[in-house]
Amino acid sequence: MKHPNDEGTRVDYAAEIYAAMLNDTEASGDTEAVSVPDEVTGGAEGAAVPEAPAVPLKISGGVPEKVVPATTTPFSFGDTPLARELSENTRRRQALAAAVLPLPAKTRVLTVANQKGGVGKTTTTVNLAAGLARSGARVLVIDLDPQGNASTALGIEHRSETVSVYEVIINDEPIANVIQKSPDFDTLFCVPATIHLAGAEIELVSMVAREQRLRTALEKFLDESAEPFHYVFIDCPPSLGLLTINAFVAAQEVLIPIQCEYYALEGLSQLLTNIKLIERHLNPVLMVSTILLTMYDARTNLANQVAQDVRDHFPEQVLASLIPRSVRISEAPSYGQTVISYDANSPGSLSYLEAAAEIARRGAPH
Ligand SMILES: Nc1ncnc2c1ncn2[C@@H]1O[C@H](COP(=O)(O)OP(=O)(O)OP(=O)(O)O)[C@@H](O)[C@H]1O
Ligand SMILES: [Mg+2]
Repeated sequence: MKHPNDEGTRVDYAAEIYAAMLNDTEASGDTEAVSVPDEVTGGAEGAAVPEAPAVPLKISGGVPEKVVPATTTPFSFGDTPLARELSENTRRRQALAAAVLPLPAKTRVLTVANQKGGVGKTTTTVNLAAGLARSGARVLVIDLDPQGNASTALGIEHRSETVSVYEVIINDEPIANVIQKSPDFDTLFCVPATIHLAGAEIELVSMVAREQRLRTALEKFLDESAEPFHYVFIDCPPSLGLLTINAFVAAQEVLIPIQCEYYALEGLSQLLTNIKLIERHLNPVLMVSTILLTMYDARTNLANQVAQDVRDHFPEQVLASLIPRSVRISEAPSYGQTVISYDANSPGSLSYLEAAAEIARRGAPH
């Protein structure tokens, strides 16, 4: 007999053990539920895995007949929550695949802002931009946050020596010289942010036309661009300083992501007051065109309550699509990807694609 460490012998043992287990199962009529792997369920997030229907044990003449192991029995999910979720996701995928989105006649510049941190500004910026780019629009993302999270999520180089939005705002560098193309979408571009931007708030204080610097650079770039851009998204830091003011002055629209949790509406009135002030003094066309509910967890009453409150307050602006809390969405940036390239068929990706379609169909506000 070979030594147990010998590869061939180990395989034999495994086969024997497996055969013994199978016999045990058959003899005892063990019909325990099988767990359904992710490949079968499509990895539906948050959905409970249903139990497989038990294989009936047929008794004839007091002797159990051979029972087919549960793992090889085909079964349908029937009318379970998971079955409904899977068929709903299929329906959403097909609707999105068939959709043709209108392109705006004029570039729409949207600033994604909320001074509250971690509400999904960057996630919303990069995924909406990717969703629109996937439908054929030419999209530019301007990363205006020294954290550089939008640059990371789009797989864009933003080491400290990279020429970035800092040089655009402080040194009058043309945007055309700092723009980079997304590795995943041909029509998606990014102006990266580096850590140098952290000092820009202070440097801007003493500069001439300090609130207009991004707008001047962006207008020049859009005017001179050989091919027109359909959308520009500006990702703001979680503050209402001079960088965010530059973003408000450069845009026509504000998109506010609101996280479906208890403190969601706190600070919102201050944000709206600031936007009103900018509109009155610096940018008369600025308006809050879009509110997107993020990190929604349908299982909690709190999320439903917050979503309802926001819809009651802002019936015109809130998108019908809302973004669920999703592991795939939070994983994607660590691969330098949007969820749309990372896992296109996940519920989080479908939600961002639907939100992007809604923004395109609504068009620019009048
Ligand atoms: N729908 C979601 N489901 C799960 N995690 C999410 C979702 N949206 C965002 N996240 C995660 O929450 C965290 C905060 O998101 P994000 O960075 O987009 O917020 P932010 O408002 O840009 O933050 P900051 O204010 O720091 O700029 C990130 O780790 C992100 O991956
Ligand atoms: Mg951010």
